[in-house]
Amino acid sequence: MSLDSSSIKKIRSQFPILAQEVNGSPLTYLDNAATTHNPQSVIDASTRYYSELNSNIHRGAHHLSREATAAHEAARDTIAKQLNAPHSHEVIFTSGTTDSINLVATTLTLSGKIKAGDRVLISTMEHHSNIVPWQMLCEQTGATLDVLPITNAGEWDLTDLDKLLTERTKIVAVNHVSNALGTINPIETIISKAKEYGAFTLIDGAQSTAHMEIDVQSLGCDFYAFSGHKCYAPTGIGVLWGNEDILNELPPYKGGGEMIKQVTFEKTTYNELPFKYEAGTPNIEGAIALAAAFDWINDIGLENIAAHEHHLLEIATAEIKNIEGIKLYGTAEKKAAVLAFNIDGVHHYDLGTLMDQMGVAVRTGHHCCQPLMARFGIQGTVRASFAIYNTEEDVENLIKAIKKASMMLS
Ligand code: ALA
Repeated sequence: MSLDSSSIKKIRSQFPILAQEVNGSPLTYLDNAATTHNPQSVIDASTRYYSELNSNIHRGAHHLSREATAAHEAARDTIAKQLNAPHSHEVIFTSGTTDSINLVATTLTLSGKIKAGDRVLISTMEHHSNIVPWQMLCEQTGATLDVLPITNAGEWDLTDLDKLLTERTKIVAVNHVSNALGTINPIETIISKAKEYGAFTLIDGAQSTAHMEIDVQSLGCDFYAFSGHKCYAPTGIGVLWGNEDILNELPPYKGGGEMIKQVTFEKTTYNELPFKYEAGTPNIEGAIALAAAFDWINDIGLENIAAHEHHLLEIATAEIKNIEGIKLYGTAEKKAAVLAFNIDGVHHYDLGTLMDQMGVAVRTGHHCCQPLMARFGIQGTVRASFAIYNTEEDVENLIKAIKKASMMLS
C-alpha cells in the first residue's frame, strides 16, 4: 500500500529547496540517483552542529569536544543499527561510496592478499567508481579483471557464472542497484557463491540504502559501501561497513592523526577500529546529519518509501511507452525507481537541456557507466530517478516535458 497524496505532500513540504521555480516553472526534481535533497530535520541537524557543537572530536578535554564526540559516535551507532551491523566499530566514515571502494581496493593491494594470477569479478553495469579502483588493483598486483555480462533487459546473465567465479577469484565487487538502469541485483546469489570460494565480497550500495532495508548480516557480504547524499543527507559523507576480522587484518588506508596508537620516528603502531581507517579530522557534521537522515527515513518507513517510488515508476513507465520513438534502457523485473531512455533521432543532452527549460531536472549522459553504455551501443541516456518526495504531478510534468522537447527536436 502506497502513501496517499496528502502524506506525500506533507513529506515534500519538509524540503525547502523543492519550493522554488526553475526557468519559470515549479521545480520537478528527478535527479535523485545523483543527489537527494535534505529535509528540514537534516538541515537542522547540520545547523545545530555548527551553532552548538562545532569542535574537534576525540581530542579535546573540553565540553564542546566531548559533546561533538558523543554526537559523532551516536551517529555511528545509528548507522550500524540501520545496516544491522554486528558492531558499531565496523562502520567507517568516508567521504562517499567512491572513497569507501577505494579504501578496500587500496588496502587489499597493500595487504599482499591479491597476487598475479588472481581474479577480480565485477559486472557490466558498474559505476566507474566500482570499475577503476579494481583496474588499479589489477595493474598493481598482476590480477585480472573479469566482467559478468548482462542481458538486454539489464539483468545479470548468470549463465557462465561458474566460469567467471572460481577459486582464483579473490574479490567480487558489484552494485546492489544499478544507477543507470535501476536493476535490483540478486546479490545474495553471488555473495553465497563467492563465499564457497573464499572470495571477498563488496556491495556498492549507493543506490539502495535510501530505498530498501539493508541487513549486512543476512546478506553475508564482507563490505557494504554507500553515500550520504543519496540518502537525504549532505555530500561529502559516506560509509564503509566492513567485517571486523577483515578490517583488522587489512593495513591502514591513509596515515595521519587519530589512526595511530603510538608514533616514534622508528615505528608507528595503529589505532583500533574504526579509527585505524579515519585519519584526520572527519566530516563530523556530515556523520551527524546522515544519522538524522536515517531517523527521518525510518519515521516514514523504508517499505512506504519503496512502495511510493515503485508506484511512480509504474505510472511513468506506462506513460512513457506511449511516446513515439521511445527506447527504454533497464527493463528488469526487479527495479528501483530509475527510468532511463532515449528518443529516436534525438540527442540525450539536447532533450535534457530542453526539459530543464521546462523546470524538469533529469540527468543525461553516460552516468559514469561508459562500459554499460557501450554494451547497449549508445553514448548515453536521459535518466529520471524518483525519491519519496516526488508526486504523480512530477510524473505528469516529466511526460509533458519529454513530449514537448522531443517534438521541438524531431
Ligand atoms: N552516481 C551518481 C549518478 O548516478 C552521480 O548520477
